[in-house]
Amino acid sequence: DEENQLRPQSFDEYIGQSHLKKNLKVFVGAAKLRNETLDHVLLYGPPGLGKTTMSMIIANEMGTHLKATTGPSIEKTGDLVAILTSLEPGDVLFIDEIHRLNKVVEEILYPAMEDFYVDVVIGKEASTRSIRIDLPPFTLVGATTRAGDLSAPLRDRFGIVSKLEYYNVEELTSIINRTSQVYHIEMDDEAKIELAKRSRGTPRIANRLFRRVRDFAQYNGDDVITKERTVEALQSLKVDELGLDDVDHKYLLGIIQRFRGGPVGLEAIAASIGEEPLTLEDVYEPYLLQTGLIKRTPRGRVVTELAYQHFHILKES
Ligand code: ADE
Repeated sequence: DEENQLRPQSFDEYIGQSHLKKNLKVFVGAAKLRNETLDHVLLYGPPGLGKTTMSMIIANEMGTHLKATTGPSIEKTGDLVAILTSLEPGDVLFIDEIHRLNKVVEEILYPAMEDFYVDVVIGKEASTRSIRIDLPPFTLVGATTRAGDLSAPLRDRFGIVSKLEYYNVEELTSIINRTSQVYHIEMDDEAKIELAKRSRGTPRIANRLFRRVRDFAQYNGDDVITKERTVEALQSLKVDELGLDDVDHKYLLGIIQRFRGGPVGLEAIAASIGEEPLTLEDVYEPYLLQTGLIKRTPRGRVVTELAYQHFHILKES
């Protein structure tokens, strides 16, 4: 589909995350020299920064296949055993949202990761016994929004643990440039920069907004996407100069207007604006923290002076 079309296939095509990329190139290159599988990799960070894409690239660069699944979709141990026993030597198994694996399933993973075998319990009552199934050597790539959500025994079994960072405006501009080429849609340089500034440091958001801006341009018969059209489209989508959307606005204005700027607990904010605490914590807060619009204190969240300035609201003392 249109989204997968945009995924880079190699380290060299992948823009940004230069620190992670540089390290992974060494680890992948060295594993290939030794004719071994790559050590297990844990990628963590906010959604949309390229964890899935990076796992596809790892498989490509290792010259193996990728098998992708998610933590919540593996309900029973048998589900995981079926996946593990269907792997070919050297394959990459990608488990998204790995922090949502249930405990029983997770314990199957420990010997699988460490020594490439699983113990399967068969039979009933008195005749119950466990048989050992050997697995092909494989690389597990796990992805999670927060590494702290993983149990220590699982986290300790990853040899490579890396955090994905928000992209800067320059990197996002390059990604948007690449997107315009893949889609064969011309866009002015200043429009690319404007879109990059409003994409919350996140390629997935940049590409989603690109498709919406393209809709506005095509609907209006434009040959080239201009900065004016970009601004108009983003205003219609209620995406402001900092890339903040409706939920961000409700969150920040909620703290300012109902909690006098904080400190206020996450649960109280969530209840007051009708959002899930976990969604706020994983999806919205990381960017607000990164841009310095909010701070976390032991007594709860507070909005900063920057937030008051952004809304042109004077802070009451
Ligand atoms: N498309 C989405 N993310 C990308 C990235 N990091 N590099 C290149 N193209 C992308």
